[in-house]
Amino acid sequence: MDYIGDMFSLKGLSYSQYLTSRKYDRGERHIKNLFDGLVTAVEYAIYLGVHGSIIEFGTGWGLSTNILAYANKGASQHWDNPCRNMYLLDTFSGMPKPSHEIDKNQKSWIGGEFAGLSALELSEVLEKHIPSNNIKIYKGLFSETISKIPENEIFAVIHVDCDYYHSAKEVLTFLFRSKMVAVGAILIFDDFNCNQARNDLGERKAWTEIVKEFGVNFSFVRAHSVSGSQFIIHSYM
Ligand SMILES: C[S@@+](CC[C@H](N)C(=O)[O-])C[C@H]1O[C@@H](n2cnc3c(N)ncnc32)[C@H](O)[C@@H]1O
Repeated sequence: MDYIGDMFSLKGLSYSQYLTSRKYDRGERHIKNLFDGLVTAVEYAIYLGVHGSIIEFGTGWGLSTNILAYANKGASQHWDNPCRNMYLLDTFSGMPKPSHEIDKNQKSWIGGEFAGLSALELSEVLEKHIPSNNIKIYKGLFSETISKIPENEIFAVIHVDCDYYHSAKEVLTFLFRSKMVAVGAILIFDDFNCNQARNDLGERKAWTEIVKEFGVNFSFVRAHSVSGSQFIIHSYM
């Protein structure tokens, strides 16, 4: 009998017996962690009164979008708040080919990946959670669609799941420059630790530069998956 197993009373098993009896299930844990991470982020914004809508860059198969909509509906009903608008941006035809030198230097995405739900399919799925007037879908490259967001919008929850350095930098530059990031907003990166967590590639590089360019004062909140990280924005210039 090993000491740790005894200490936690693992159904009479030693710790090593307990672990060998447990099935390794990567998929189930990933979904569970992602679900908990995204739902808690939306709950944080709604319960603690952070102003603004929810925005997602990169909807792909709609997995994260669905979770955000589920949380939006559930938390706003629970705390008797109006449902937040959800802005959803994607090509809806998969990853564009990398256009920036930094993205050409990584090997994970070459273009065409993640051609998931169409804009119509996404909207139909989301309408099962939230009213259609809360759903704002923008189809096309971010460079063509982001400036169409109404200029008086502000965002409480920002989910960046667009993988490339250039895509992440483009959308964050727009939001920070347009002062669309609410005080206390929660900023979620899905791919923060990709590329061996190198600060000179991907979403990490984009965030490192944004922090410097806009003098962002922020707190690290949590990691919600092997690659995902969340931050709260306190102030910026
Ligand atoms: C990993 S997928 C998103 C997965 C999705 N969040 C989910 O849970 O199913 C990344 C998405 O980012 C989109 N994307 C990346 N760069 C883009 C750009 N510059 N303009 C528009 N969409 C872009 C791709 O089309 C792709 O669907």
